[in-house]
Amino acid sequence: MKTDLLKLPVFLKPLILSLFLLSFLAFLSLQTPLLSFNKPAEKLPPDLKIRPGYSSYDAYLHRQLNKTLNPKLRQIWTTRDWDRKVRVFSEFFGSLKRRELLSNGSKSLCIGARVGQEVAALKRVGVNDSVGIDLVPYPPLVLKGDFHHQPFDDGTFDFEFSNVFDHALYPWRFVGEIERTLRRGGVCVLHVLLSRRADKYSANDLYSVDALKELFKNSEMVEVRRIDGFGLDTEVVFRKK
Ligand SMILES: C[S@@+](CC[C@H](N)C(=O)[O-])C[C@H]1O[C@@H](n2cnc3c(N)ncnc32)[C@H](O)[C@@H]1O
Repeated sequence: MKTDLLKLPVFLKPLILSLFLLSFLAFLSLQTPLLSFNKPAEKLPPDLKIRPGYSSYDAYLHRQLNKTLNPKLRQIWTTRDWDRKVRVFSEFFGSLKRRELLSNGSKSLCIGARVGQEVAALKRVGVNDSVGIDLVPYPPLVLKGDFHHQPFDDGTFDFEFSNVFDHALYPWRFVGEIERTLRRGGVCVLHVLLSRRADKYSANDLYSVDALKELFKNSEMVEVRRIDGFGLDTEVVFRKK
């Protein structure tokens, strides 16, 4: 190979080298997620891995919307699944109220709420000032909003809940936006999966709560407990300082 290259005409050598470099860069762009969007200056925590393979932010959104917009699934989520999910979410929120992490007066946000079963559950347990956001709105329970750029002012909420941390392509933005829109002393509850890889729509994999602790720079972790929540196994509670 070396001798073949040496035999090539001089003007062809830079061309071949550029072609080689271009293919290498194209390969890298397919392997490396779009680590931009105010990428944190320091390294990501070792127990948090962003999944490779998204060629653009639009490609990420397209993948998320592919499932959320599916009309047959939306029909199931709003009928057959509705009561069971609202009941289970109500049990989680009832427990948080008993532990004084949530109250009827808490202005609350559910992040990645799809058709809003968790918002309906908050209202069922008496937390009436509650709303959700998702890429696809489902009025009146769920407004349109990207969790990487929440459509709310600083310090809007007393309580934020999410079971979709694994869908964040930019987890530092997901957390940064929660800390921005929570008031001081406000509570954030995440349901996450630690024991295995999450589903094929996930954009990251989390392997320990330490990674979350590192991302929540302006909060303290106040509780961690095992749960059984629609395939997720851990509840983590943060309070904004
Ligand atoms: C696994 S579903 C969970 C839905 C709901 N929380 C539940 O338990 O039924 C993930 C949801 O996150 C939403 N999602 C994904 N990426 C998002 C983003 N960047 N901003 C807001 N919502 C997003 C999807 O549209 C989808 O509805």
